[in-house]
Amino acid sequence: NKSDYREVRRAQFHFSPRRGWINDPNGLAYYKGEYHLFFQHNPYGTNWGNMHWGHAVSKDLVHWKELDVALYPDSFGTMFSGGGVVDSNNTSGLANGANKPLVLFYTAAEKTWEQGLAYSVDGRKFEKLPHTIVDKITDGNRDPKVIWHEPTQRWVMVLYVTEPDELHTMHFFTSPDMKSWTFVSKIIGGKGNDRYMHECPEFFELAVDGDPTNKKWVLTGANSQYAVGTFDGKTFVPVEERLFSQFGRDYYAPQTFSNEPKGRRIEIGWWRTHTNQHGAAFNQSMSIPMELKLRQTDHGIRIVRTPVEELKALRTKSTKLPTSVLAPETDNPLAALRAETAEIKLLIKPQQADSIQINVRGLQINYHVGKQELEIDNVRAYVPSKDGKQEFTIFVDRTGVEVFAANGEVFMPVNYNLEPANRSYGIRVHGGSATMETFEFHELKSIW
Ligand code: FRU
Repeated sequence: NKSDYREVRRAQFHFSPRRGWINDPNGLAYYKGEYHLFFQHNPYGTNWGNMHWGHAVSKDLVHWKELDVALYPDSFGTMFSGGGVVDSNNTSGLANGANKPLVLFYTAAEKTWEQGLAYSVDGRKFEKLPHTIVDKITDGNRDPKVIWHEPTQRWVMVLYVTEPDELHTMHFFTSPDMKSWTFVSKIIGGKGNDRYMHECPEFFELAVDGDPTNKKWVLTGANSQYAVGTFDGKTFVPVEERLFSQFGRDYYAPQTFSNEPKGRRIEIGWWRTHTNQHGAAFNQSMSIPMELKLRQTDHGIRIVRTPVEELKALRTKSTKLPTSVLAPETDNPLAALRAETAEIKLLIKPQQADSIQINVRGLQINYHVGKQELEIDNVRAYVPSKDGKQEFTIFVDRTGVEVFAANGEVFMPVNYNLEPANRSYGIRVHGGSATMETFEFHELKSIW
């Protein structure tokens, strides 16, 4: 029922569950014509706890249909985070003939802390193996991410493990059949409060600037800090570490889709929105889907994000303006526009202006020209100008904004309860005039 999804605080183009709590995305995979989004889920309350894997599917990454819970807690534990892959060669022997299984890896948490495997041959019904597949290393070890490593024809699992003395580590295992796993290496991701690599590993290979002869491996932890390096099927050797690609206060535990039909690396993360208000029976949302690429910059190889092109299908009314001069201390073109949900693209040459202020329904997005700093609700990121210009893409939903800047090197999702009645926008420059070279404003329609 569509009206179930029209609550005041519910994001209108981000996934959220019909009811209950959600956190991390899990098991993201494309299987039999659908994108599968599983997620940490408490179906019976709006707070964290009693972890299940919820399940939703989409044909276009944008419109989601929530299905029955995929994994329930059992005698081994509650269902913590993990990954999903399609066993295209049926190495697991879990399916018959041409029917390839979708395989999920999860942590049986808070009890045995063993890693489990569940599979499906129709993308609807999930069956767990009667035994777990990786024994406990230490209490709290969790979040298995599994990928296929083509050169060695092995499955690789990355698992977060807290070792004695609060050492945060990522352990690597390999397997020929998804069921028997051999430990092969580990890397240290910090100690105590230094949690550079902590929980929810994500691990993938990408071509730098699309060049297939120049590929690099990326390892990230839940807070999206990442390392770029090499991987021989056993050992990840970082070339650069402790890199940041997202600067939001409210983004966590992102995962990418395996088996993506166009070969893209698409990410969705948990957008911590506090939506259990005004009597709403659900809490939290996912981010928009974004494509990840690696770019060679003058400061190293970096992840860049762009919203997936499928989101363009949500555009309804669009306003584009020719290049214009923004006079200081004046309400400029955005002031005429009204929309509850929108996508805004701006390319601005600050020139004499020392700051740019974009008002999104009462939330201020500030750019300080001198410091080259983007700031939203006290969240800050360094955004250098390119050819003296600044480019911003801003997605606006009821739950806040997701901003892309520095050519995709900066992603800043900020949760903010935008007031339903305030649908006005504005742009003001201070200290002098600026030139606005690109101005696009797209009203977006609801996915529900
Ligand atoms: C990250 C996390 C994971 C864990 C899950 C439990 O948000 O703590 O490490 O598997 O949430 O819901």
